[in-house]
Amino acid sequence: MLENPLQLLLFVLPAYFANSTPVLFGGGAPVDLGRNAWDGRRIFGDGKTWKGLLAGMVCGSLVGIAEALLLNDSRYYLLGFLLSLGAMAGDLFGSFLKRRMGLERGHPLFVVDQLPFLLFALAFASPVYLPSPEGILLLAVLTYLLHVATNFAANRLGLKKVPW
Ligand code: CTP
Ligand code: MG
Repeated sequence: MLENPLQLLLFVLPAYFANSTPVLFGGGAPVDLGRNAWDGRRIFGDGKTWKGLLAGMVCGSLVGIAEALLLNDSRYYLLGFLLSLGAMAGDLFGSFLKRRMGLERGHPLFVVDQLPFLLFALAFASPVYLPSPEGILLLAVLTYLLHVATNFAANRLGLKKVPW
């Protein structure tokens, strides 16, 4: 994979899809099943549900399959799955951190809301492909801006209660 911005975007696309579908399909039983951590606060909170997790995994993996076929690059079969799994794990990790800091579900937290999903996705995908340091930096900046813009849009469209 060459590393022009378009190819970087195509590479990370399954993670973006995995991270954005839960808001559409989430709901129902929370991943932590309502349980608290040692500090008496929720492990992840009601914003992280099994349905959302599954929706993200399925959608991101399907994007990987589509890319494998369209780009004629069989690495995307595995990349789609790994990027989705990483994105979901990173999103959970971010919520875990926020709960440990005593922040309620949906409370905005600079950087922790936007980047863990990307960093975990890159780490999970790294056995198959890892962008250069410059590529990772570009993706981090781009992801941050995209995340802020799409969450603002999701709020305006009535999909999210808060614009972050
Ligand atoms: N969502 C879900 N399951 C997930 C991730 C997200 O159901 N694994 C849904 C929830 O409805 C959530 C919404 O997508 O409210 C937006 O996700 P996010 O902004 O990550 O969650 P927050 O509600 O802001 O919670 P947190 O403070 O834990 O980030
Ligand atoms: Mg949030």
